[in-house]
Amino acid sequence: MSGLKEKIEKLQERFDEAIEGITDEKTLQEVRNLYLSRSRGSVSSLFGELKSLKPEEKPDAGKEINALKEHVQDKLQALQTQLHGPKVVEEMVDLTLPGEASYIGSPHPILIIQQEIENIFLSMGFSVEEGPEIETDYYNFEALNFPPHHPARDDWDTLYINDDFLLRTHTSPVQIRVMEKRKPPIRIITPGKVFRKESPDPTHLPMFYQVEGLVVDRGITFAHLKGTLESFLKVLFHEKTKVRFRPSFFPFTEPSAEVDIGCTVCNREDSACRVCGGGGWIELLGSGMVDPQVLKNVNIDPEEYSGFAFGLGIDRAAMFLYQIPDLRYFYENDLRFIRQFLQK
Ligand code: DAH
Repeated sequence: MSGLKEKIEKLQERFDEAIEGITDEKTLQEVRNLYLSRSRGSVSSLFGELKSLKPEEKPDAGKEINALKEHVQDKLQALQTQLHGPKVVEEMVDLTLPGEASYIGSPHPILIIQQEIENIFLSMGFSVEEGPEIETDYYNFEALNFPPHHPARDDWDTLYINDDFLLRTHTSPVQIRVMEKRKPPIRIITPGKVFRKESPDPTHLPMFYQVEGLVVDRGITFAHLKGTLESFLKVLFHEKTKVRFRPSFFPFTEPSAEVDIGCTVCNREDSACRVCGGGGWIELLGSGMVDPQVLKNVNIDPEEYSGFAFGLGIDRAAMFLYQIPDLRYFYENDLRFIRQFLQK
């Protein structure tokens, strides 16, 4: 027993020396292994020596080895804390560190332009209305003065759901829905998705956004249509934007006009411009005076009231405003693209 006691004391002395001046985790771990490793640690192997003692000596010897083991463990723990700080501190939040910014999303460029368009018209006294994306033939075509089998229907490549329903090809059916419910004066815009049977290419998609406008009141003339659209386009694009009205045809307006703006990219000065093709103009809207037949279809007397309407592609406007060469970018959901449009 006295031999063992001596061994214990020696080992403790050696250990105390060994841990002096330890400043790194690696050495600390080495010392821990040297003394406490279950199979080969010097303290652990002392327990093996208990076997050779007389039974009456064993309890005291056991106690002393345990005391040594505790001493070693405590010292190593203290050293560990000294090297790293206590565990709790390690897990505490350091408020002095700069925060980790998490991405919370940004508005889609089409939505940004839609909201800008809404704001311009709201400031002119219009209200915003919505309608269903699944429509009947009546609202999408017939009430808008497209008789059944009329060839003009071919201009709208329609996706039919079944014999009764289709995906609306334009936002114009919302005109009818609003006029059925409400009598003039009416001043609305109706933004939303529309669908057409198109193969995607840089300027065509099977789904895109339009905004429809409708004004019906007593004494509304083409001058109101021109004035409203010119002011709108000058706010949306630029004060100096040139606006041109070209005669056109739509079944639901008479007379009808397409509205172009002077090319925002080349300013009508580059005969090789990729955006306007050198023509100097970008086609942006369809418009016209509401056809008297359309007013009759919703029981508004065309002798008393007149109106104008227009339709604009929001994607197309966003394309020119942000100078994006391909419509498909809008729908690829590439965050590197979307995140650029936080501010206009
Ligand atoms: N609905 C037409 C289209 O999708 C656009 C349009 C043209 C709307 C003339 C109108 C309008 O309200 O008056 O091509």
